Amino acid sequence: HALPPEAPHLVDQLRGALPRRNGDSHKGTFGHLLCVGGTVGKAGAIRLGAKAAMETGCGLVSVASNHQVVQSLQFAEPEIMSVIVPCYDSLLPEGDSASHVLEHPYDAMVIGPGGGRHSRLVQFYWEVIQGASCPVVIDADALYCEDEDRNDILEAIIRRSNGTVLTPHPKEFERLTGTPLPELESCKLDIAREWALKLGCTLVLKGARTTVAWSNGDVYLLDCPNAALAKGGSGDVLAGIIGSLLAQGMDADRAALEGCKLHALAGQIMSQRHGSYSGGPLKHIQSIATAIAQFE
Ligand code: APR
Ligand code: MG
Repeated sequence: HALPPEAPHLVDQLRGALPRRNGDSHKGTFGHLLCVGGTVGKAGAIRLGAKAAMETGCGLVSVASNHQVVQSLQFAEPEIMSVIVPCYDSLLPEGDSASHVLEHPYDAMVIGPGGGRHSRLVQFYWEVIQGASCPVVIDADALYCEDEDRNDILEAIIRRSNGTVLTPHPKEFERLTGTPLPELESCKLDIAREWALKLGCTLVLKGARTTVAWSNGDVYLLDCPNAALAKGGSGDVLAGIIGSLLAQGMDADRAALEGCKLHALAGQIMSQRHGSYSGGPLKHIQSIATAIAQFE
């Protein structure tokens, strides 16, 4: 397949952007990513994130979820390891769920895809986010908060010091920050910059055009609209790609920006092959290899 006409632009931008890979390496060289999330009914979200992370090159990928999700993953995805977290399982005593996750020295975490919003899950995400000494991607249900908890959650993000990437779609951003959607749509770049500076984190404001705001206030707009990406699961793929780059040692700002570009390029290759109707997240993940081959 020839590259789609819009692809060379991203290929040029991505040349030299990913960490160099030395043949004299082992699985530990490329980092261990933990993906936290996946409830029954949305187990696919965490699986897509974990698969996308593997495809993007990290050495080990684990999923932390409930018993049923872990069991289904074990057979379906032999490359992916897993941890059962008690708070996900109403049949198990709650125990100290966060310490299950925090006792292992992961290189990065993706928290939230398909995660569920039960209050004890939300509590668990925030214990993990506050306790994690590695960089984290906070996505989907881990971005959810009740209005009265908003300030605590924003404070917790500000207190983190190991690299934090937030990946909200507009509605998740509205809920997390209290910024009304019409205001966001009218000045997305300025609002993204303001919040990245205020929270001291990297902010990926997703959409047909995605804005990436760095923690120093630099802002980038990815102008790559692609109808094939307008399907549930595309965001989980993005979270996995960024998490994988974090686990491989890229800093949060770079991992978010280059991760968004790689996601967009793989999406362009996928829609060229399968069309804008029939493309989808699994095919998107399969196109990551072709995307990387263009600039590796
Ligand atoms: N053009 C380009 N990119 C697009 C387009 C488009 N027309 N439409 C969507 N995208 C991209 C966005 O930029 C983003 O990266 O696809 C991704 C969509 O992400 P989300 O809105 O987060 O949707 P997704 O995560 O796939 O939806 C399922 O929702 O509640 C969560 O837990 C649930 O994780 C699960 C998820
Ligand atoms: Mg999402």
